[in-house]
Amino acid sequence: MRKLTLLFSSLFVLFVALQSCNQPAAEQQSWEAEWLGQTQQEIIDNTEEQFQGFSRTMTENSYRYQELYWAGQDQNWEYAEYQREHIVEALEQGFVRRPEHEASAQQFMDVALPEIEEVIKSADQEQFFESFEKLTNTCNTCHQMEDVAFITVVLPKVRHNVVYY
Ligand code: HEC
Repeated sequence: MRKLTLLFSSLFVLFVALQSCNQPAAEQQSWEAEWLGQTQQEIIDNTEEQFQGFSRTMTENSYRYQELYWAGQDQNWEYAEYQREHIVEALEQGFVRRPEHEASAQQFMDVALPEIEEVIKSADQEQFFESFEKLTNTCNTCHQMEDVAFITVVLPKVRHNVVYY
């Protein structure tokens, strides 16, 4: 009886194994994006070019800097913190692609932004504007260090945001 059970269970295992062999081969993954190119090097070069240099980082940073300001005006501290975090992220990603800019941003990243973080936590609007001015100065310090002093950041005057809060 035990032998019979063993035989049946072996047959069952064999049956299952054969069934799985019968399955059609997993569909071949296909992808296509003409602009990427053909060779590995072309793909790398074209992807790099699409990410662009540090100016791409700065256009994002500039938008978020302004949103941060108006969030402080509205005392929407959650939105202010959201923008602060995204500024950090944008800069960090920028440094991965363009590490030569990181050293000049030390004041901005390690002093001004952490100070803003604390102020946002304390929800103190007066202090927020004081710290925001300091942050603005560190934008310009970096621009001077990076030979783009002609890009002078001033406090936002006009509200361009599309977000209602
Ligand atoms: C690394 C230090 C550094 C810090 C910190 C920094 N910038 Fe810049 N910024 C640059 C560099 C470098 C460029 C020029 C980028 C290029 O041409 O590749 C630039 C360019 C810009 C531009 C022009 C972007 C364009 O192409 O239209 C703006 C606007 C700008 N920064 C705003 C700011 C603001 C606002 C802050 C602060 C919230 C800031 N930057 C902080 C280094 C910095």
